[in-house]
Amino acid sequence: SGAAQVLVASNRGPVSYQVRDDGSLHAKRGGGGLVSGLSAIGPDAGALWVCSALGDGDREAVRRGIGEDGVRMLDIPAEVHSDAYNGIANSVLWFVHHMLYQTPLEPVFDAEFRRQWASYETYNRAFAEALAAEAAEGAAVIVQDYHLVLVPGMLRELRPDLRIGHFSHTPWAPPEYFRMLPDDIARAVLRGMLGADRLGFLTRRWADAFTACCEAFAGGVGDTRIGVHGLGADADFLRRRAHEADVEERMTALRAEIGEGRKAIVRVDRTELSKNIVRGLLAYRQLLADHPEWRERVAHVAFAYPSRQDLAVYRDYTAEVQRLAAEINDEYGTADWTPVVLHVKDDFARSLAAYRLADVALVNPIRDGMNLVAKEVPVVSDQGCALVLSREAGAHEELGEDAVTVNPYDIVGTADALHRALTMPLSERAERTKRLTDAATALPPAQWFLDQLTALTGQRGG
Ligand code: G6P
Repeated sequence: SGAAQVLVASNRGPVSYQVRDDGSLHAKRGGGGLVSGLSAIGPDAGALWVCSALGDGDREAVRRGIGEDGVRMLDIPAEVHSDAYNGIANSVLWFVHHMLYQTPLEPVFDAEFRRQWASYETYNRAFAEALAAEAAEGAAVIVQDYHLVLVPGMLRELRPDLRIGHFSHTPWAPPEYFRMLPDDIARAVLRGMLGADRLGFLTRRWADAFTACCEAFAGGVGDTRIGVHGLGADADFLRRRAHEADVEERMTALRAEIGEGRKAIVRVDRTELSKNIVRGLLAYRQLLADHPEWRERVAHVAFAYPSRQDLAVYRDYTAEVQRLAAEINDEYGTADWTPVVLHVKDDFARSLAAYRLADVALVNPIRDGMNLVAKEVPVVSDQGCALVLSREAGAHEELGEDAVTVNPYDIVGTADALHRALTMPLSERAERTKRLTDAATALPPAQWFLDQLTALTGQRGG
């Protein structure tokens, strides 16, 4: 056995590398809720983070022996990784848990799917073997997310001495949807997860759905304990970062794009089908149609950052977002008013700038494990911000009372909610923002992780 006492494993690690023209490697922080949650635990906490090499830059870093302290990147063959990540994790498991299949022809569980599933097993096995080699006797391992659902079961066989946890950053599908997976695959997913001593979910709703799936298809959860840990925003980090010079600069630039005296409806997402960006744009167009008084007095600031661009549906979705934004700008724009200010290039400082000056934040996913944007905006908002929030986001369980709730499929309802949010008195906005901030920061990332570790290693867990 190895030396690490605490290990985490995830597909995406804290940084990924790009090869520059001069051959040097440039490290970039990873995006998404999982990385935000785990970044609090770095090497100072004595943890080892096992992750995948995600591209050529990462593979080159592994070859050159470059890496962050406390991080071990696995160089899984590119084709195996692509089958597992693009094919199974992001095209099947992500779609099942977010209930995203949309056409009568989807999903297709054909021979190609079976071939990709074999790669998914190989990829999970590579993680299980690396963890087994690195973990000290009796160590605690917390495996992350739908990419690695087979790891707990595999690791249990290799190392029965370990405390094994798994945490899901996504929703979990209800049995009626989950059962569309072929029976043997559905059972393999559940049995893999149930290899863990303890499973964590972001909300009660996803934990209950998992339990219901186990009862329906695996004879129950057995000895595995299940807990809920609602990851919160990292207030200290966000407030500090949001007041650095680069963020101030971007606020100036953004104010110029929005135009003097106009209100800003802000959204920031990965360009992700489940984030429902297109319906958000349709609702904004509906608002401009129903309430001409808002024309020239509001701008929709939409940041839709590239995500999973190896998948055609994601590329098509990005194109649709861009097409619709342009259409709205053609339809309503004037010489000095751009109704939709769309940016598609990833820029964290600009996201924080938008959070600070937002009058309204639009978070309308059709389904979301938590959604940290909903929790980050109130924390850094300068003058209070009204939050329009989908009832299908995990964050709604904690933030619903002080948000303007929407059914994400309802375009007219969302347009109404935007109008209500825009007309909310500033004093009410400020009061709600304060309560939203309290709820959003109740469980900071470091504590979120520590709670899981304590529950996993303590005699008695929740
Ligand atoms: C979600 C998932 C994370 C994932 C993130 C970004 O939050 O739960 O596991 O890392 O999306 O997606 P990506 O495919 O870019 O890692």
